Amino acid sequence: MIDDLPWVDSPSAHGADVFLFGSGVLNPCDSMSSGPTLQGPDTLYPSHQHMPEELCFVLSGTADWQKGTGTPFEPKPPWSFIHHRPNQPHAMQTGNAPLSAMWT
Ligand SMILES: [Fe+2]
Repeated sequence: MIDDLPWVDSPSAHGADVFLFGSGVLNPCDSMSSGPTLQGPDTLYPSHQHMPEELCFVLSGTADWQKGTGTPFEPKPPWSFIHHRPNQPHAMQTGNAPLSAMWT
């Protein structure tokens, strides 16, 4: 089943995302998007920001997450819940294990 999902490359993070629902994807929805994400080991997902609020739930892998600009990265183990406010810069750095998470 996982092979049947429409994975989208995330070149800046050497990973991939699936839009389970959202604009123009499996289950169209104009008001929100959601799906799983994978980020390869030893990879920085560079700081970025976006208008939509973002919620992430870590499934596996302990990555270091940053909120804000110039703030320290903090490790977030599986079962962590991370919230990014609208337009809040954020970044993720994996170590020797990949990160999988659900995002909305
Ligand atoms: Fe984001």
